[in-house]
Amino acid sequence: MSELTAAIPGRKSVRSFDGAPLRREDREKLEAFIASLDNPFGVNVKCVLLDAEKEGLGSPVITGEKLYVAGMVEAKPLADAAFGFSFEKLVLFAWSLGIGTTWIAGTMKREKFQQACGLAAGWRMPCISPLGYPAAKRSLKETMMRKGVGADSRLPAEKLFFDGSFDTPLAGGRLAALAGPLELTRWAPSAVNKQPWRLVAGENEVHFYEKKDKGYVGEATGDLQKIDVGIALCHFFLGLEDLGKTPSVILADPGLALPPETEYIATVRF
Ligand SMILES: Cc1cc2nc3c(=O)[nH]c(=O)nc-3n(C[C@H](O)[C@H](O)[C@H](O)COP(=O)(O)O)c2cc1C
Repeated sequence: MSELTAAIPGRKSVRSFDGAPLRREDREKLEAFIASLDNPFGVNVKCVLLDAEKEGLGSPVITGEKLYVAGMVEAKPLADAAFGFSFEKLVLFAWSLGIGTTWIAGTMKREKFQQACGLAAGWRMPCISPLGYPAAKRSLKETMMRKGVGADSRLPAEKLFFDGSFDTPLAGGRLAALAGPLELTRWAPSAVNKQPWRLVAGENEVHFYEKKDKGYVGEATGDLQKIDVGIALCHFFLGLEDLGKTPSVILADPGLALPPETEYIATVRF
């Protein structure tokens, strides 16, 4: 099992930090990982570390943080999913070092972060995250937020994973063959914990769809729920690699009959 998939079951968003800066060796490992970040969508994603105090950065839901990472993506087709994939790899790597993160698209002063990270024309900065060691105890606000979105639970597999068409929940041999990667997918984080990903399995491939709600698309952020789909796809992809497979991402829309507000995003072939 890779360090990234090993991080998935225990990872939680961290909004309360202990006030300590990152240890030098942890920061160096993070910087090296950031420099090597990639995604299978062929879209550039960049991450920049920002000193909270020096840059005057903060978030009303975060306490005790000293450092942020801002994520940027070239504004082109599949940017949202690519961003979700790359930034989630960073989130998982951080957790493997004992460093907490929270994906933040909303609860921040966006202009300040965009200025601090030097956002270039033709790029978006969809999300940022604090980086630090978790405090011994969650703030009351954090505890309330987690309750509000049911952060400790996820939808059951039969609502998310289908076989050949949206009419048939995935079951039997095909479910068993993909059980590991699918369970990792189910536990992906998403904006307001909506889990807007739907998967339809075929022969050696799984098609990923976005189940859209209103209010998640903006010029500055892109489509947050497509970012969520990229995060889920990242977990699935890493799970397949753990099984010794060599997955790739392609566009191969099978043209299925779709439930309302559902859009094809991409296919993972393995
Ligand atoms: C794209 C995206 C945007 C998010 N934006 C915010 C945010 O603005 N503020 C916040 O406190 N949490 C934000 N979150 C964190 C989610 O609320 C959190 O991941 C979800 O409730 C599941 O909890 P968990 O990460 O502890 O598993 C965001 C998550 C994602 C994936």
